[in-house]
Amino acid sequence: MAKFLVTSALIYANGPIHLGHMAGAYLPADIFVRFRRLNGDDVIHISGTDDHGVPITIRAEKEGVTPREIVDRYHRLIHDSYTKFGISFDNYSGTSRPKHYEISSKIFTDLYENGHVLKKEEQQFYDEVSKRFLPDRYVEGTCPKCGYERARGDQCDKCGSLLNSLELINPRSALSNATPVIKSTTHWYLKLQDFEERLIQWIEGNKHWKDNVRKFILGWIRKEGLHERAITRDLDWGIPVPLAEAINKVLYVWFDAPIGYISSTVEWAERMGQPEKWRDYWEGKDVKLVHFIGKDNIPFHAVIWPAVLMGQNEPYILPYDIPANEYLTLEGEKISTSLNWAIWINEYLECFPPDPLRYFLAANAPETKDADFSWKSFQERNNEELANILGNFANRSLTFIRNQMDNKIPKAVYQKAENELLDKAKEIVKDMTANFANYKVREAVKQLMDIARLGNKYFDEMKPWELKKSDPARLDTVMNACVNLLRILSIAMYPILPFSAEKLWVMIGEPGKITEERWDTLGAKSAQPGRTLGELEILFEKYDDDVIKRETDKLLAKSNLKKQGETKMEENAKTDAPALISIDEFKKFDIRVAEIIHAEPLEKSKKLIKLKVKVGDIEKQILAGIKEFYPADQLVGKKIVILNNLEPATLMGEKSEGMLLAASNGDRSVLSLLTPDRDMESGGKIS
Ligand code: MF3
Ligand code: ZN
Repeated sequence: MAKFLVTSALIYANGPIHLGHMAGAYLPADIFVRFRRLNGDDVIHISGTDDHGVPITIRAEKEGVTPREIVDRYHRLIHDSYTKFGISFDNYSGTSRPKHYEISSKIFTDLYENGHVLKKEEQQFYDEVSKRFLPDRYVEGTCPKCGYERARGDQCDKCGSLLNSLELINPRSALSNATPVIKSTTHWYLKLQDFEERLIQWIEGNKHWKDNVRKFILGWIRKEGLHERAITRDLDWGIPVPLAEAINKVLYVWFDAPIGYISSTVEWAERMGQPEKWRDYWEGKDVKLVHFIGKDNIPFHAVIWPAVLMGQNEPYILPYDIPANEYLTLEGEKISTSLNWAIWINEYLECFPPDPLRYFLAANAPETKDADFSWKSFQERNNEELANILGNFANRSLTFIRNQMDNKIPKAVYQKAENELLDKAKEIVKDMTANFANYKVREAVKQLMDIARLGNKYFDEMKPWELKKSDPARLDTVMNACVNLLRILSIAMYPILPFSAEKLWVMIGEPGKITEERWDTLGAKSAQPGRTLGELEILFEKYDDDVIKRETDKLLAKSNLKKQGETKMEENAKTDAPALISIDEFKKFDIRVAEIIHAEPLEKSKKLIKLKVKVGDIEKQILAGIKEFYPADQLVGKKIVILNNLEPATLMGEKSEGMLLAASNGDRSVLSLLTPDRDMESGGKIS
């Protein structure tokens, strides 16, 4: 059993949370934490809001309210989104609470007394219209490193360089838009150079860090060097600098924010009634401190924060790992809160359950490179994977037991097929362990689907609907194995799809909680024969095109991105024509005229008709989903067009050796079989 102190970035309390935040930090953290808990590890998950800094004061000024009002409003809204999205924090605090002020002041004082803080008079921008100094983000201008025109005074969003606002080309005040003047003011600086050797050694030794993080930060240090950095600001919202001579100065938000991880843990311990328990984590030499953050936070967590920890007096541990993710784009464009090009989690949750988005963001996690969210691919992943594979296996198995077997889990005498099935599933789960432990969630998602596919394949091959008459004892065994596979699946899906996992757990009649199960011994226990199943529910609903269109329309309507020209989403929609193929590719299709010689509706299916067709001298069986459109008896004698060399498949226990071609209108309300318009012999080739 290992001990983990997991943190997720303290998000600025200046707006709601969007799916880019979720994909970057909170969901990966939550998946990791849920997995660790199932695995029997000791883990606490700590977070909260970042209540200070210019992001908050600018918002407050825009709305004409106090920073406190902004913080309170968004602290609540963000917390609500986390809860409904299933992000499982042990404590969710905020950096404007008294405990946090106390701890931050103490750490500043330690650094100051240890000689790591330098007082300097510096030139700074002053806005003569609003009559005040302009700290970092109050200034915008062109990035001196990459030329991006909307860089902020502290950091360029385009190239990631940390900036000093005086370096900006064409500076503008974010308050008045005026060109600011330069005046001098006093600030206190953290001497990063004091920690140079230790920092570099430490980073280089952290070979287990993700490549994108370790390489990025070593490159960053090479480029930027380690110099003193201002850790105070001229603002009236923040933690007062604990020095008598510092008047109207507060600690820089990036100085106090990470300290919020500590103060939130202290708050947790107090809430638990064990006020010293936080030390078990922050001072536990065997504890692994893992910071989940987005890419733009890497320098603060991998350099400045460790330097602060190294320079203060308490025996706090250093970060063990910083599994930062890359960025998520939305419909091919950079997510932008100012242009309202974002999907806000609270708005998403008004229309959809959390799990489909959790699934999508896990399957497309920006783990090693940027990834994209689009509504269309969301629909595909949901419908084709969650609903058609995972949901389908649960639904067909449990419906069968409910309708045909008295709704009770049957007894079993396992044969080779069952042992193989369950062993294979357990093996996949074992392989998932390393992926969850190494933050490779995309891979884990694939494996999860592989387990569900095993289930569907087994179900198809065992043909329970036939066993019902031919071999009821065998049927018992088969359906028992299906339930046990679902039992494994519920546990395996829990880190990613906690809501659906718990639903499925109840559906298979389990009385306890999934969280009482253990990942490492999963499959050692099995479903109790004789137990009645819980109530059946649809696990994953499918989303139609009109639902998706509603969402893309909504996104376009509220965004200002459109005003700047056509979005990539609209461009793509226009060119939604299928990709071009070569004549050689087309030649692979063996399309032929076939004559229907026999047709009978498949009783157990709403859609399928079983056809016998003649293709030249060859007879074949084809299952066609046309029951709603053609009565079987009107089909015999028709000459139709089929794809002759389609891989054979088994549908509902019947083989199908080709596919009939038909035309349909957009909503599939009408369907028309293709027939040659002259009398043709069957077997005739179509080209
Ligand atoms: N508020 C910062 C952001 O949203 C993240 C701070 S993470 C911290 O980019 F925990 F270090 F505070
Ligand atoms: Zn730049």
